Amino acid sequence: MPEAWKALDNIDQRVRGALPGVDVRWAYTSGLVRDKLAKEGKALDSPAVALSKMLDQGFTDVTVQSLHVIPGQEYHDLLQTVNGFRAMPDGFARVRIGWPLLARPEDIEAVVDALLANAPKDRKSGEALVFMGHGTHHPADVYYLALQYVLGGKDPLAFVATVEGTPSLDDLVAQLKAKGVKKAYLAPLMAVAGDHANNDMAGEEPDSWKSVLARNGVESECLLRGLGEDNRAVDLWLAHLKAAMAQGE
Ligand code: CO
Repeated sequence: MPEAWKALDNIDQRVRGALPGVDVRWAYTSGLVRDKLAKEGKALDSPAVALSKMLDQGFTDVTVQSLHVIPGQEYHDLLQTVNGFRAMPDGFARVRIGWPLLARPEDIEAVVDALLANAPKDRKSGEALVFMGHGTHHPADVYYLALQYVLGGKDPLAFVATVEGTPSLDDLVAQLKAKGVKKAYLAPLMAVAGDHANNDMAGEEPDSWKSVLARNGVESECLLRGLGEDNRAVDLWLAHLKAAMAQGE
């Protein structure tokens, strides 16, 4: 979705600003997104292709920064790609990978603070904040429960729910009903406000979160802004990148 580029452009600017003199390249893990944009004439590299090009161009020292939210399946696939390059004869002198947004307990604290700092200023008492995570079959799905634990400790009407994991939309509806919530602000807990945010969350279809909440007596207002547009979150990815770059120095 064109609107989603705002978040990636912001991350790009922030990283280049923080690391002058370092070459920055982009790679896209999603084959679906690469195929779609290829049809529109925009060629994007997979991580393996981007790393191969850098190897051919004589780079010796590369750090891959994951822009995933949790260390789930996609992060672990990326880790395997990086490990493949590490094992390659005549490969890079050093190739490292930075953690996704949520890795250590202090990352959870930092993300919760960022999410709460962005709460709409006109939110009234009794109104909820709901953050839509992706969710996964991967064991790292537990990060959303950890996030909910810390988030709920700081704001009893702030919730995390996921499209494909736990907590689910049903869990969220039960919580909102139990707490008598009539209005909620919904925001994506994803790097970009893309298809999930615009359609699954804010869409007009009967199964969108907005529609399901409306049928359960909760009016919602959708904030279509990805974490990549929030410099507090971007700086956490950047801190993970810098930590990875410093490994083995
Ligand atoms: Co998805």
